[in-house]
Order: sequence, then structure tokens, then C-alpha cells
Amino acid sequence: MAKSPKTPKTKRIGILTAGGDSPGLNAAIRGVGKTCLNYYGMEIIGFRDGFRGLVENHRLPLDRSTLAGILTVGGTILGTSRDKPHRMVIDGQTQDMTATIVKNYDKWGLDAIVCLGGGGTQKNALRLHQAGLNVITLPKTIDNDVAMTDATFGFATAMDIATETIDRLHSTAHSHHRIIVAEIMGHRAGWLTLGSGIAGGADVILIPEIAYDVEKIADAIKLRSKHGTNFSIVAVAEGAMSREDSRALLAAEKKLERAKNLPEKKAAKNEIANVELRHQGNTMRLAHQLEELTQLESRVTILGYVQRGGTPSAADRLLATRLGSACGDLIHEGVFGVMVAARGDGTEPVPLEKVAGKRKAVPVDHAWVETARRVGTSLGD
Ligand code: F6P
Repeated sequence: MAKSPKTPKTKRIGILTAGGDSPGLNAAIRGVGKTCLNYYGMEIIGFRDGFRGLVENHRLPLDRSTLAGILTVGGTILGTSRDKPHRMVIDGQTQDMTATIVKNYDKWGLDAIVCLGGGGTQKNALRLHQAGLNVITLPKTIDNDVAMTDATFGFATAMDIATETIDRLHSTAHSHHRIIVAEIMGHRAGWLTLGSGIAGGADVILIPEIAYDVEKIADAIKLRSKHGTNFSIVAVAEGAMSREDSRALLAAEKKLERAKNLPEKKAAKNEIANVELRHQGNTMRLAHQLEELTQLESRVTILGYVQRGGTPSAADRLLATRLGSACGDLIHEGVFGVMVAARGDGTEPVPLEKVAGKRKAVPVDHAWVETARRVGTSLGD
């Protein structure tokens, strides 16, 4: 982590939100904004739609009135995008816009830029830090998969929403004696499905970190029927895979790692794309397979973007505000090139090099996994 070489006191900071939106983003903008503006007397400029705003000079000056009333609001008042500074589509052409961003940072007289985002944003922020900008980030995502932080804001709200959905599915599954397969987001991490699956009492929980065997899932459901309970809720993460698909993906990823030349790389990437293509519609396929194997009627519910929308929970508002205000302190101290991580009740600056490119997956022996097993939940393995 580097001390700012530029100024001992930061006067004007920029802030942007990048990647998929998540509940708590506005609470974090407010936390950073109020601390910087009111507590430290800095100026703060919002940049719209992620890194693109820094390229296109698309701004939203933040003052007391713009920061008021946003704590409870979902989404992000700044807008967001998945644009990457080094690979941005401008006028139909993919270009490296890093130099433009550096130029605009200077043009606006910024002393720091705060980037709120998930794993991809941490990587992009590191690139900008390496290009010489004073960058500081906050960890945001409903997936909870950012490395080196206890938690990311957005996760708690999404878990509440997914839990409530599982709760509601119980009565309809029970009434119709059906299997309901609920697909939950999380990209390639199982935190959201595991957390809401345990909290909602799902009978089967399938996560990307534990490859499943459909026969084993069917056995667990049949056992429930044998004991007189002829309905089941299956919580499946969007990235959960059967043993066969998981093996194929792992082999292709290894091939990519070992690839020595371009054709080998291309072949490995094609293999990965094929597995991913095969994976599309996996939840529907799983429901059909379970229907055939158990003779219980099956239905699918895909939770989708409802998990990301709307009011953040109290836990997310608190986390986002804590991280945001700690970010203001670090800017004041001139600490950059870091992500503000949640650590217990406190916060901790972690160098971006330790965060970027790392994904926090669920360890297969994690306490939540063990808890699920103890209460008789099938993990499909
Ligand atoms: O990272 C958050 C997330 O909601 C993932 O859970 C999901 O896989 C992805 O974003 C969806 O991305 P998009 O908003 O680009 O469709």
C-alpha cells in the first residue's frame, strides 16, 4: 500500500460504481461522500456508468442535496457498466482508454478516485493504480466472492430476498407434492445459494464448489418421500455443475493454463466455451432429470435480477456506510492502491495486488457446508 506522493491532503476526489449493481451502493456513495465532504471538507465528483464516465467526462457533482435521501434507495445514482478501461468499445471499436482516463483524472484535478465494485472492478482499479492514479476501492457484490474481505455489501440483502423466496416456495411445493428447483445467482461462487438455502431450509443445496450427482439428489428426495414428505425444495446456484461438466471444465481450464502457443490457447478456450454452452438451461434440465428419477412433478423458479433490486437491508446499509466512512479516513491519510476490507467489526486496507484476480469461493469444508450436512441437507455429492 502506497502513501500518496502527490499531496499530503486530498482536496478533490472522484467516485464511480462499476460491474453489476447491488443493494447498498448508494449507502456506500453516501458514506464516502458525507465523510469526505462534511467531515474532511473535500470536494467530490461522481462519474457516471462505471469507468466509461471517466473516459467520456460524464459527471454528477455530489453535494449535500444529491447525497441526501439515498441511503435506502436500491441501485446506484451514478449508474454502472461492465466497461473495462483497457478494453472499452468506443464508436464500435475496442480500445485501450487508460491514457484518456489518466488525462481526465488530471484535467479534473482529482487527488483520488474511489471505485465501488466486485472482482472485475478490483482488477480494473489495480490497472489504473499501476498507471499512476490514486485509487481506492470498496468491495461490492451480491456474490460475496471478493477476496480478502469478510463480506461484500449487497450480499446480505440478496440473501434475505433469496431466503424469502425459498420460504414462499415451501407452501406451494407442499400443496402440490412437487419438487421446486430454485435457481439462485452467485456467478461461480455458492455463498448466496448456501446461505439462503440454509436459512430457508432447502432440502437440497447445489453450489459450484461441490459438483453434484443427479442420482444422489434423487435418492435424497426419494428418502424424504419414503418418510412421508413428498415435496422438496432444491436451491441450485447458477454456477453449480454436474460431476461430468465440472470435470470437463476443470480439464479445459488446466489445458488453458498449460497452453504454450496461440492455437493451443484457442482450442482450450473453445473447450471452456463448449462446457459453458452446455451449461445453459442446466436448471431446467436438472428439474426434468429429477422428475424422471423421482416420479414427482417438478417446477423451476429462476430468481434472477429481483435478487439485486430494491432497498438494501439494515446489515448492508451498515456495512456500506462503515466501509464508505473508513474510505474517507484513508483518503484523508493518503493511503491508496488499496481495497477497504471488512474485518470483524472494523475495516482494514488491503493492497489491491492481493485482491485483484482472486475469487473467494466457498471452501468445501466451510462451517456453513458442515452445518447444512448436519441438519440433513443434501449437497448432491
Ligand atoms: O455479479 C453479480 C451478478 O448478479 C451475478 O450473480 C450474475 O452471474 C451476474 O451478475 C449477472 O450479470 P449481468 O448483470 O451482466 O447480467
